[in-house]
Amino acid sequence: MPSIRFRLNGVATEIVADPASPLLSILRGELGLTGAHFGCGSGECGACRVIVGDRAVTSCDTPLWSVAGKDVTTLEGLGNPERPHPLQRAFIAEQAMQCGYCISGVMMSAAALLMQNKRPSEAEVRSALDRNLCRCGAQNRMVRAVLTAAEEMDAP
Ligand code: FES
Repeated sequence: MPSIRFRLNGVATEIVADPASPLLSILRGELGLTGAHFGCGSGECGACRVIVGDRAVTSCDTPLWSVAGKDVTTLEGLGNPERPHPLQRAFIAEQAMQCGYCISGVMMSAAALLMQNKRPSEAEVRSALDRNLCRCGAQNRMVRAVLTAAEEMDAP
């Protein structure tokens, strides 16, 4: 099997695997990064979103070969308990989750939005999170959290 090289959370990574493998299964199964979740498996729910370059993609239907030579960022690359990302702090402060299953994917969609647009409007945040399904009804809190994080990140 060929080896595929990419940068994962800023670290050069090489993996020998079937190039057609879903990125999600490589992240979770081979690399032990379990932040991205498996939900629908068909690109519909957004629980598996990670960032490739500056775009949030559904890793369940992204083949491994397609990230060769690219930057991949997962939830683990955003921050950690000692140094949380502003989005992570804001989501906690807003209590923007209930069961939490979708939240990794939501944060990655939000992080990609803030990479492209430092001060999005509420409508732009809602649009960016539109492809992330949440059954708990925490969407309004999520939107507030993203706007709070954007303000903090863009503060002079
Ligand atoms: Fe990938 Fe649902 S598990 S979009």
